[in-house]
Amino acid sequence: MNDAAPSTQPETFYLKDYAPFGFVVESVELTFRLAPETTRVLSKIRFAPNPDAPDRHFFLHGEKLKLISSRINGEAVTPVLTDTGLTCDVPDQPFTWEAEVEINPQANTALEGLYMSNGMYCTQCEAEGFRKITYYPDRPDVMSTFSVRIEGEEKVMLSNGNPGDRGAGYSEWHDPWPKPAYLFALVAGDLVNHPDRFSTGSGKDVELNIWVRPGDEDKCAFGMEALKKSMTWDEEVYGREYDLDVFNIVAVDDFNMGAMENKGLNIFNSSCVLASPETSTDANFERIEAIIAHEYFHNWTGNRITCRDWFQLCLKEGLTVYRDAQFTADMRSAPVKRIEDAIDLRARQFPEDNGPLAHPVRPEAFQEINNFYTATVYEKGAEVIGMLKRLVGDEAYYTALDLYFERHDGQACTIEDWIKVFEDSTGRDLAQFKNWYSQAGTPRVSVQDSYEGGTYTLTFRQTTPPTPGQDHKDPKVIPIAVGLLNPNGDEVVPTTVLEMTKAEQSFRFEGLSARPIPSILRDFSAPVILTRETSAEERAFLLAHDTDPFNRWEAGRELAKASRIAMVTEGASPDAQYLDALQSLVRDDALDPAFRALVLSPPSESEIAQALADQGVTPDPDAIHDAAETFAQTLAQNLSDSLPRLFAATKVEGPYKPDARDAGLRALNGRILALLTRIDGAEAAAKQFETADNMTVQNTALACLLKAEKGEAQSQAFYEQWQDDRLVMDKWFALQVATARPERAPGVAEALTRHPLFTIKNPNRFRAVMGALSMNHAGFHQADGSGYRLLADQLIALDPLNPQTTARMCTALQTWKRYDADRQEKILTELKRIKAVDGLSRDTNEMVSRILD
Ligand code: PHE
Ligand code: ZN
Repeated sequence: MNDAAPSTQPETFYLKDYAPFGFVVESVELTFRLAPETTRVLSKIRFAPNPDAPDRHFFLHGEKLKLISSRINGEAVTPVLTDTGLTCDVPDQPFTWEAEVEINPQANTALEGLYMSNGMYCTQCEAEGFRKITYYPDRPDVMSTFSVRIEGEEKVMLSNGNPGDRGAGYSEWHDPWPKPAYLFALVAGDLVNHPDRFSTGSGKDVELNIWVRPGDEDKCAFGMEALKKSMTWDEEVYGREYDLDVFNIVAVDDFNMGAMENKGLNIFNSSCVLASPETSTDANFERIEAIIAHEYFHNWTGNRITCRDWFQLCLKEGLTVYRDAQFTADMRSAPVKRIEDAIDLRARQFPEDNGPLAHPVRPEAFQEINNFYTATVYEKGAEVIGMLKRLVGDEAYYTALDLYFERHDGQACTIEDWIKVFEDSTGRDLAQFKNWYSQAGTPRVSVQDSYEGGTYTLTFRQTTPPTPGQDHKDPKVIPIAVGLLNPNGDEVVPTTVLEMTKAEQSFRFEGLSARPIPSILRDFSAPVILTRETSAEERAFLLAHDTDPFNRWEAGRELAKASRIAMVTEGASPDAQYLDALQSLVRDDALDPAFRALVLSPPSESEIAQALADQGVTPDPDAIHDAAETFAQTLAQNLSDSLPRLFAATKVEGPYKPDARDAGLRALNGRILALLTRIDGAEAAAKQFETADNMTVQNTALACLLKAEKGEAQSQAFYEQWQDDRLVMDKWFALQVATARPERAPGVAEALTRHPLFTIKNPNRFRAVMGALSMNHAGFHQADGSGYRLLADQLIALDPLNPQTTARMCTALQTWKRYDADRQEKILTELKRIKAVDGLSRDTNEMVSRILD
């Protein structure tokens, strides 16, 4: 099992095979002698036999390491080396293992382990990157304290925990909290800091720093405020305090993911921490605030309590996403955040759950764990926690969380531990609820209603379609939040949570004097697809009157989808009733501008394609795109008299502030500008571009201009203004692809891959172009297959350099079964072409194989 698997038959790991490691690690001492191509790593590790383990097999993970020497209790030993690690005979009692290895950070383009980004040393160890740094039992249930000494000429040399001794050419760190190796981190380079301090609830003084490259100092203030707000919030809401003397954040340009919660030393993709009004949009600010919070919150949910094995990833990620969503809801607008999350879940998680990559929130098998950092584990994992909270109630939820922290602090836990805490503290039996963790697929919930003699009855049915490897699905526990309105819009039954547990179930409301209008699945109380045959009148009524903001928005969304589908399938005109409703909403100044902006944002073309496929209609991407254009054009024309006035009235005056109020108004203003651009020859957009003093309005104006194909000069000007700013240039690359007419999109993307500033090695830049192409629905799905071909070419080029990012980007092809035979065949051709590549990475091989299955 520890031998390298032959490349044709990659090894699969199973949850059911879990066994503890044969040894416990009592302490780890590491010395790094930094050199770009020949870094030496010296390790000194105290092992002791683990009384709880079934066997004492001494296997240390290790990949791409050059072993220089190894010793046990000071005596040289000769371990047996394999591609994945080493084994060695060891004493039957506590012993000290020492090894010296050499690694090459400069050659590490996978951005996992120790690598270099713009001359700076940086690590990424989650999930299994530590084994590229030294030989170690690289599994999350092996926890130890770490002492680190870094030797090098770098100005700043950081690791986890608290700082120790420091002098010319070295810097020492000690982390007193036992942790798994995936939370190890080291950073060294020419960095400058934005310092601050925080005093915890119990009066502990903490030094805070955001470390960046010289020149980026002016982009740290917002992130620092977000950090302090997060620290306060976690104390107030969860009673969790920070536990070290320092908290460091570092920004790096080359990073596969958003950010990483390494103990006391969070490492961020620079796009997820650096912010300034001139270079960042409102959306960037909101995302940065959320990610800073997310990583900080991991200190308790992830670090103090970690995962027993990687199958339990949702234990830390689902909970931490849930916590960061609560934080954003508290800092900004709760309804807006909920709507944004539902949009995101439907755009990213539903396609996953309904296609070849479907897997349970807690997967049971994997070849490459990096492929399971998915929307299902993260976002559906967070939804599951939201449902649990709704079922037990707020108070019981926080009582259970207190018990979780008390009972499991310092441990590596499972979903069973998590559920048990809720069972013990509430007395509830959660056996059926666990289906949410073990069974993949999005439940379909249909509803019928009847009214008789003052009694209103709602009857629900749930089914979950089969997913790969899981034909049978049991009914799930579904909290369905319902409110009832009477025909004048008053709420006759306020929000009530119905607990559905059976395949089919009825709920009665008695003593009603008239047939009510139901508002079902309020606040999106469960991640399900709700279907209800109902009239456009009733939806329009809810759009105008529902007291639940989520369902008010949802009613508009349903109308939009129905109209779009009728346009595509029956050649209908845009629905007049819906157009009217939109027009009165836009003008309704009593409504939150952010909410109005969301109502005005059309469903994505991909979402319409999925809705059609769900109805058994093969989606035609061009027809869907044309319908979207026609709809927007009609809305713009119908509103033409009021657009200039609305545009002026929603303009944000005064200096730029990234807060929720101003951002919401700018979002509405941007939607109006998009409509106005359709009728004013792009005049207003051109003017806005000229006078823009922040990136939000500059970016919006450029997007409108490019979409109208009147932005060439401005695009050039934008380029000249920002060519030295990597993060703004990512926007420039992405915008051109995102706004290109479908037939031009693959060509535009292809040309950009040949631009001097394009580099395949930087994940942000790669995603700016290829991610934008995959999200330009009609462009990516051009009938000639050029979009698919370009993506496959790029993935094949990237795979040998960066398997992780390559594999993630393969998800663009996961929906292939939706489309017509011709497109299917073209996608399959590309998937097979990728799969046939000699030496394809395990990451990409697994993804492509699953998509093809
Ligand atoms: N654990 C990180 C987070 O959720 C994500 C991550 C995973 C980053 C793997 C890098 C590598 O915050
Ligand atoms: Zn996380």
